[in-house]
Amino acid sequence: MSTRNLTRQSLMLRNLAETMVQALAPLKAASGRLKYLSPFPRRFNGAYESYEKAMEAAGRTALAGYDNDEVTDVSFDQMCKIAPWDYPVLFWLNKLEAELDGLVDAGGHMGTKYRAFRNHLSPKPSFRWIVYDVAAVVRAGRARAQREDCPGLEFVDDISLADDVQLFLGSGLLQYLDKPLSQLISSMRTRPRHLLLNKVALRKGPEVVTLERIGPALVPYRMRNEAAFMRNVCQLGYKLVDRWSIPSLSHVVETHPELGASESAGFYFRLDS
Ligand SMILES: C[S@@+](CC[C@H](N)C(=O)[O-])C[C@H]1O[C@@H](n2cnc3c(N)ncnc32)[C@H](O)[C@@H]1O
Repeated sequence: MSTRNLTRQSLMLRNLAETMVQALAPLKAASGRLKYLSPFPRRFNGAYESYEKAMEAAGRTALAGYDNDEVTDVSFDQMCKIAPWDYPVLFWLNKLEAELDGLVDAGGHMGTKYRAFRNHLSPKPSFRWIVYDVAAVVRAGRARAQREDCPGLEFVDDISLADDVQLFLGSGLLQYLDKPLSQLISSMRTRPRHLLLNKVALRKGPEVVTLERIGPALVPYRMRNEAAFMRNVCQLGYKLVDRWSIPSLSHVVETHPELGASESAGFYFRLDS
Protein backbone atom coordinates (compact mmCIF):
# COMPACT_ATOMS: atom_id res chain seq x y z
CA MET A 1 0.00 0.00 0.00
CA SER A 2 1.30 3.47 -0.93
CA THR A 3 2.18 6.06 1.75
CA ARG A 4 -0.57 8.36 0.42
CA ASN A 5 -3.21 5.60 0.87
CA LEU A 6 -1.95 4.91 4.36
CA THR A 7 -2.25 8.61 5.33
CA ARG A 8 -5.77 8.77 3.88
CA GLN A 9 -6.78 5.63 5.81
CA SER A 10 -5.40 6.91 9.10
CA LEU A 11 -7.21 10.23 8.60
CA MET A 12 -10.47 8.38 7.96
CA LEU A 13 -9.93 6.28 11.06
CA ARG A 14 -9.27 9.37 13.16
CA ASN A 15 -12.42 11.08 11.85
CA LEU A 16 -14.42 7.93 12.56
CA ALA A 17 -13.07 7.79 16.13
CA GLU A 18 -13.91 11.47 16.73
CA THR A 19 -17.45 10.97 15.37
CA MET A 20 -17.93 7.96 17.65
CA VAL A 21 -16.72 9.90 20.72
CA GLN A 22 -19.16 12.73 19.88
CA ALA A 23 -22.02 10.31 19.27
CA LEU A 24 -21.35 8.51 22.55
CA ALA A 25 -21.13 11.69 24.67
CA PRO A 26 -24.87 11.78 25.55
CA LEU A 27 -24.72 8.06 26.41
CA LYS A 28 -21.71 8.67 28.67
CA ALA A 29 -23.55 11.52 30.42
CA ALA A 30 -26.66 9.34 30.79
CA SER A 31 -24.68 6.48 32.30
CA GLY A 32 -22.99 8.99 34.68
CA ARG A 33 -26.45 10.10 35.77
CA LEU A 34 -27.54 6.49 36.39
CA LYS A 35 -25.11 6.40 39.31
CA TYR A 36 -27.16 9.14 40.98
CA LEU A 37 -30.60 7.57 40.39
CA SER A 38 -32.43 7.35 43.69
CA PRO A 39 -36.02 6.85 44.85
CA PHE A 40 -35.51 9.80 47.25
CA PRO A 41 -35.89 13.47 46.27
CA ARG A 42 -32.56 14.79 45.00
CA ARG A 43 -30.80 17.58 46.91
CA PHE A 44 -29.51 19.33 43.75
CA ASN A 45 -31.54 19.53 40.55
CA GLY A 46 -30.82 21.05 37.17
CA ALA A 47 -28.11 23.32 35.80
CA TYR A 48 -28.96 26.86 34.73
CA GLU A 49 -26.86 29.59 33.23
CA SER A 50 -28.13 32.32 35.58
CA TYR A 51 -29.70 32.89 38.98
CA GLU A 52 -32.81 34.37 37.31
CA LYS A 53 -33.32 31.30 35.09
CA ALA A 54 -32.95 28.98 38.10
CA MET A 55 -35.42 31.07 40.12
CA GLU A 56 -37.92 30.96 37.25
CA ALA A 57 -37.60 27.16 37.01
CA ALA A 58 -37.99 26.78 40.80
CA GLY A 59 -41.24 28.76 40.79
CA ARG A 60 -42.81 26.34 38.33
CA THR A 61 -42.88 23.45 40.84
CA ALA A 62 -42.24 24.74 44.38
CA LEU A 63 -41.75 27.74 46.62
CA ALA A 64 -38.86 29.65 45.07
CA GLY A 65 -35.96 30.90 47.15
CA TYR A 66 -35.32 31.60 50.83
CA ASP A 67 -37.66 34.56 51.15
CA ASN A 68 -40.69 32.50 52.21
CA ASP A 69 -42.14 32.17 55.72
CA GLU A 70 -42.45 28.38 55.26
CA VAL A 71 -38.65 28.03 54.90
CA THR A 72 -37.36 30.00 57.88
CA ASP A 73 -37.30 27.13 60.41
CA VAL A 74 -35.67 24.56 58.11
CA SER A 75 -32.35 23.32 59.62
CA PHE A 76 -32.32 26.12 62.23
CA ASP A 77 -31.16 23.92 65.14
CA GLN A 78 -28.52 22.26 62.98
CA MET A 79 -27.11 25.63 61.83
CA CYS A 80 -26.86 26.84 65.45
CA LYS A 81 -24.21 24.18 66.13
CA ILE A 82 -20.51 24.56 65.39
CA ALA A 83 -19.59 22.45 62.37
CA PRO A 84 -15.97 21.39 61.67
CA TRP A 85 -15.71 23.95 58.83
CA ASP A 86 -16.66 26.79 61.21
CA TYR A 87 -13.36 26.64 63.11
CA PRO A 88 -11.31 28.77 60.69
CA VAL A 89 -13.99 31.49 61.02
CA LEU A 90 -13.91 31.19 64.80
CA PHE A 91 -10.10 31.36 64.73
CA TRP A 92 -10.13 34.68 62.81
CA LEU A 93 -13.00 36.13 64.86
CA ASN A 94 -11.03 35.37 68.02
CA LYS A 95 -7.95 37.09 66.63
CA LEU A 96 -9.87 40.18 65.48
CA GLU A 97 -12.56 40.71 68.09
CA ALA A 98 -10.53 43.07 70.29
CA GLU A 99 -10.46 45.65 67.47
CA LEU A 100 -14.14 45.25 66.52
CA ASP A 101 -17.23 47.17 67.68
CA GLY A 102 -19.50 45.01 65.56
CA LEU A 103 -19.97 42.87 62.49
CA VAL A 104 -22.53 42.35 59.79
CA ASP A 105 -23.48 38.70 59.42
CA ALA A 106 -24.80 38.63 55.85
CA GLY A 107 -27.01 35.62 55.24
CA GLY A 108 -26.85 35.20 59.02
CA HIS A 109 -30.30 33.58 59.06
CA MET A 110 -32.02 33.96 62.46
CA GLY A 111 -28.66 34.48 64.19
CA THR A 112 -27.45 30.89 63.79
CA LYS A 113 -23.72 31.65 63.96
CA TYR A 114 -24.32 34.22 66.74
CA ARG A 115 -25.77 31.33 68.75
CA ALA A 116 -23.12 28.84 67.65
CA PHE A 117 -20.14 31.10 68.43
CA ARG A 118 -21.21 33.25 71.38
CA ASN A 119 -19.77 31.01 74.11
CA HIS A 120 -16.42 30.95 72.32
CA LEU A 121 -15.97 34.70 71.85
CA SER A 122 -15.40 37.58 74.29
CA PRO A 123 -16.56 40.67 72.40
CA LYS A 124 -16.74 44.16 73.90
CA PRO A 125 -19.96 44.65 75.95
CA SER A 126 -21.22 47.16 73.34
CA PHE A 127 -20.55 44.75 70.43
CA ARG A 128 -23.28 44.72 67.73
CA TRP A 129 -23.89 41.47 65.81
CA ILE A 130 -26.05 42.69 62.94
CA VAL A 131 -27.71 39.97 60.87
CA TYR A 132 -28.57 41.00 57.33
CA ASP A 133 -30.93 38.58 55.58
CA VAL A 134 -34.01 38.38 53.37
CA ALA A 135 -37.26 39.85 54.74
CA ALA A 136 -38.99 36.57 55.78
CA VAL A 137 -35.92 35.38 57.73
CA VAL A 138 -35.44 38.79 59.37
CA ARG A 139 -39.09 38.85 60.54
CA ALA A 140 -38.78 35.36 62.03
CA GLY A 141 -35.34 36.13 63.51
CA ARG A 142 -36.56 39.27 65.29
CA ALA A 143 -39.58 37.43 66.73
CA ARG A 144 -37.38 34.57 67.98
CA ALA A 145 -34.76 36.92 69.47
CA GLN A 146 -37.48 38.73 71.44
CA ARG A 147 -38.37 35.46 73.15
CA GLU A 148 -34.73 34.68 74.02
CA ASP A 149 -31.86 36.52 75.67
CA CYS A 150 -29.73 37.69 72.74
CA PRO A 151 -27.62 40.69 73.80
CA GLY A 152 -26.22 42.67 70.86
CA LEU A 153 -28.17 40.74 68.19
CA GLU A 154 -29.90 42.96 65.62
CA PHE A 155 -31.58 42.30 62.28
CA VAL A 156 -31.78 44.29 59.03
CA ASP A 157 -33.17 43.40 55.60
CA ASP A 158 -31.28 46.27 53.96
CA ILE A 159 -27.50 46.06 54.30
CA SER A 160 -27.04 49.83 54.04
CA LEU A 161 -28.58 49.97 57.54
CA ALA A 162 -25.62 47.99 58.94
CA ASP A 163 -23.36 50.98 59.37
CA ASP A 164 -19.88 51.37 60.81
CA VAL A 165 -19.00 47.73 61.26
CA GLN A 166 -15.44 46.65 60.62
CA LEU A 167 -16.14 43.04 59.67
CA PHE A 168 -18.35 41.41 57.03
CA LEU A 169 -19.14 37.76 57.73
CA GLY A 170 -20.69 35.78 54.89
CA SER A 171 -21.04 32.22 56.15
CA GLY A 172 -22.97 30.07 53.70
CA LEU A 173 -24.19 33.18 51.87
CA LEU A 174 -22.34 33.17 48.55
CA GLN A 175 -24.06 30.05 47.19
CA TYR A 176 -27.42 31.80 47.53
CA LEU A 177 -26.63 35.44 46.84
CA ASP A 178 -28.47 36.85 43.83
CA LYS A 179 -25.88 39.54 43.06
CA PRO A 180 -22.08 39.92 42.87
CA LEU A 181 -20.50 40.25 46.32
CA SER A 182 -18.90 43.56 45.25
CA GLN A 183 -22.38 45.00 44.63
CA LEU A 184 -23.59 43.97 48.09
CA ILE A 185 -20.52 45.39 49.83
CA SER A 186 -20.66 48.59 47.79
CA SER A 187 -24.16 49.28 49.10
CA MET A 188 -22.77 49.58 52.65
CA ARG A 189 -21.98 53.11 53.76
CA THR A 190 -18.48 52.18 54.84
CA ARG A 191 -16.50 49.28 53.46
CA PRO A 192 -15.65 46.78 56.27
CA ARG A 193 -11.92 46.30 56.77
CA HIS A 194 -12.26 42.52 57.21
CA LEU A 195 -14.09 40.03 55.02
CA LEU A 196 -14.66 36.50 56.32
CA LEU A 197 -16.40 34.20 53.83
CA ASN A 198 -17.16 30.55 54.43
CA LYS A 199 -18.67 27.66 52.45
CA VAL A 200 -18.23 29.43 49.09
CA ALA A 201 -19.12 26.95 46.29
CA LEU A 202 -16.58 27.12 43.47
CA ARG A 203 -15.68 25.45 40.20
CA LYS A 204 -12.95 25.89 37.63
CA GLY A 205 -15.33 26.16 34.65
CA PRO A 206 -18.07 28.72 34.00
CA GLU A 207 -20.52 29.45 36.82
CA VAL A 208 -23.40 27.00 37.14
CA VAL A 209 -26.60 27.64 39.08
CA THR A 210 -28.47 24.59 40.28
CA LEU A 211 -31.53 24.30 42.54
CA GLU A 212 -31.17 23.04 46.10
CA ARG A 213 -34.14 21.46 47.84
CA ILE A 214 -34.55 23.23 51.20
CA GLY A 215 -37.70 22.05 52.99
CA PRO A 216 -40.68 22.97 50.79
CA ALA A 217 -38.60 25.30 48.59
CA LEU A 218 -36.19 25.11 45.69
CA VAL A 219 -33.41 27.63 46.17
CA PRO A 220 -30.92 28.76 43.48
CA TYR A 221 -27.43 27.53 44.46
CA ARG A 222 -24.47 29.09 42.64
CA MET A 223 -21.24 27.30 41.95
CA ARG A 224 -19.04 30.27 41.09
CA ASN A 225 -16.02 30.42 38.85
CA GLU A 226 -13.17 30.90 41.32
CA ALA A 227 -11.05 33.27 39.18
CA ALA A 228 -14.04 35.56 38.51
CA PHE A 229 -14.99 35.47 42.21
CA MET A 230 -11.45 36.45 43.26
CA ARG A 231 -11.35 39.32 40.71
CA ASN A 232 -14.72 40.56 41.96
CA VAL A 233 -13.54 40.72 45.59
CA CYS A 234 -10.07 42.11 44.84
CA GLN A 235 -11.44 44.93 42.65
CA LEU A 236 -12.85 46.42 45.87
CA GLY A 237 -9.34 46.70 47.28
CA TYR A 238 -9.31 43.50 49.37
CA LYS A 239 -6.21 41.32 49.62
CA LEU A 240 -6.32 37.60 50.39
CA VAL A 241 -4.94 36.71 53.84
CA ASP A 242 -6.14 33.12 54.26
CA ARG A 243 -7.99 30.40 52.31
CA TRP A 244 -9.16 26.97 53.46
CA SER A 245 -10.81 24.14 51.57
CA ILE A 246 -13.81 22.17 52.90
CA PRO A 247 -13.78 18.78 51.10
CA SER A 248 -16.86 17.49 52.91
CA LEU A 249 -19.00 20.27 51.37
CA SER A 250 -18.04 19.46 47.77
CA HIS A 251 -21.20 18.65 45.79
CA VAL A 252 -22.16 16.94 42.56
CA VAL A 253 -25.40 18.05 40.88
CA GLU A 254 -27.12 14.66 40.74
CA THR A 255 -28.92 15.47 37.48
CA HIS A 256 -25.69 16.73 35.83
CA PRO A 257 -22.73 14.73 37.23
CA GLU A 258 -20.76 15.42 34.05
CA LEU A 259 -20.25 19.00 35.35
CA GLY A 260 -17.97 17.59 38.05
CA ALA A 261 -17.92 18.28 41.78
CA SER A 262 -17.85 21.79 43.22
CA GLU A 263 -15.15 22.83 45.70
CA SER A 264 -16.21 24.50 48.92
CA ALA A 265 -13.81 27.04 50.42
CA GLY A 266 -13.47 29.74 53.05
CA PHE A 267 -11.58 33.04 52.80
CA TYR A 268 -10.25 35.86 54.93
CA PHE A 269 -9.65 39.10 52.98
CA ARG A 270 -8.45 42.42 54.40
CA LEU A 271 -8.76 45.89 52.90
CA ASP A 272 -5.43 46.94 51.51
CA SER A 273 -5.10 50.39 53.06
C1 LIG B 1 -27.54 28.30 54.52
S1 LIG B 1 -28.08 29.76 55.23
C2 LIG B 1 -26.62 30.23 56.10
C3 LIG B 1 -26.90 30.40 57.57
C4 LIG B 1 -25.68 30.67 58.44
N1 LIG B 1 -25.01 31.89 58.07
C5 LIG B 1 -24.72 29.51 58.42
O1 LIG B 1 -23.57 29.66 58.03
O2 LIG B 1 -25.11 28.41 58.85
C6 LIG B 1 -28.10 30.92 53.90
C7 LIG B 1 -28.73 32.23 54.27
O3 LIG B 1 -28.53 33.18 53.20
C8 LIG B 1 -29.68 33.99 53.14
N2 LIG B 1 -29.78 34.69 51.87
C9 LIG B 1 -30.06 34.21 50.65
N3 LIG B 1 -30.09 35.20 49.74
C10 LIG B 1 -29.82 36.35 50.42
C11 LIG B 1 -29.70 37.72 50.03
N4 LIG B 1 -29.87 38.13 48.78
N5 LIG B 1 -29.42 38.63 50.99
C12 LIG B 1 -29.25 38.22 52.28
N6 LIG B 1 -29.33 36.94 52.70
C13 LIG B 1 -29.62 36.02 51.77
C14 LIG B 1 -30.80 32.99 53.36
O4 LIG B 1 -32.02 33.59 53.66
C15 LIG B 1 -30.23 32.15 54.48
O5 LIG B 1 -30.57 32.68 55.73
